[in-house]
Amino acid sequence: MQNKLKDVVNILQQARHTVAFTGAGISAESGIPTFRGKGGIWDKYDPIILEIDYFKKNPDKAWPHIKDMFYNVIDKAQPNPAHKVLAQWEQQGLLKAIITQNIDNLHQKAGNKNVIEYHGNTRDLICLNCGKITPVKQTDMTQNPVTCPHCGGLLKPDFVFFGESIPLEAQQQSLWHTQSSDVYLVIGTTGIIMPASLLPYEAKKNGATIIEINLTPSNYTNTITDIFLQGKAGDILPGLQKLMN
Ligand code: APR
Repeated sequence: MQNKLKDVVNILQQARHTVAFTGAGISAESGIPTFRGKGGIWDKYDPIILEIDYFKKNPDKAWPHIKDMFYNVIDKAQPNPAHKVLAQWEQQGLLKAIITQNIDNLHQKAGNKNVIEYHGNTRDLICLNCGKITPVKQTDMTQNPVTCPHCGGLLKPDFVFFGESIPLEAQQQSLWHTQSSDVYLVIGTTGIIMPASLLPYEAKKNGATIIEINLTPSNYTNTITDIFLQGKAGDILPGLQKLMN
């Protein structure tokens, strides 16, 4: 593993445009459950809660679970060493952008500025009636369902539900960075949920070196991954950083 780490350090230090593509696994060591795998969110909750049609028809059933799944957990979560290394690498000019599937805001909390939130975020809520965006911090989240302070309409979390499309700007920025990258770090993702999961394939097609960090093999490991660093992101990324110093 040590030689692999040294190889990755050399690749990163010579790269022109490194991009990190992250999933729930990078936040696991911050206490945020992943979606799949032992103790994952989908072990406890039915994904239908995050289907947009179900939510619109049953907001009073969906909202309590959504608060338990996300809002009651994310607020207390802090960036872990994996997030912090990516923030250092952006400051040092080693990392051009993060494309994250996560909605926990931990990359920004760690200090990264160029974060593309492919699935939106949990900072804001959007009104399905008047379209206004209200920060969670300015909303009475004790209500069920949560309603708009401007018009009383139903508020929905400002992240992408199943059956909704990816925000256009996130799609465009992600594609540009993916097609510009020569090194693509794939960190903590099963590579199952499309269209996000297609991005590493696009990077590979454009000639990027795929470096994957994961506890277990993913859909990418035996197909497009060039270097697989198996283990916790919170151990491996600081290990790489240490070799750089
Ligand atoms: N370090 C590195 N990888 C980890 C760690 C860790 N400490 N802990 C778990 N993992 C890996 C798991 O092995 C798994 O491959 O993180 C991955 C988590 O997979 P998922 O829970 O499927 O998360 P993700 O791939 O981000 O899911 C994508 O699915 O439900 C939707 O919208 C949701 O954005 C989410 C999308």
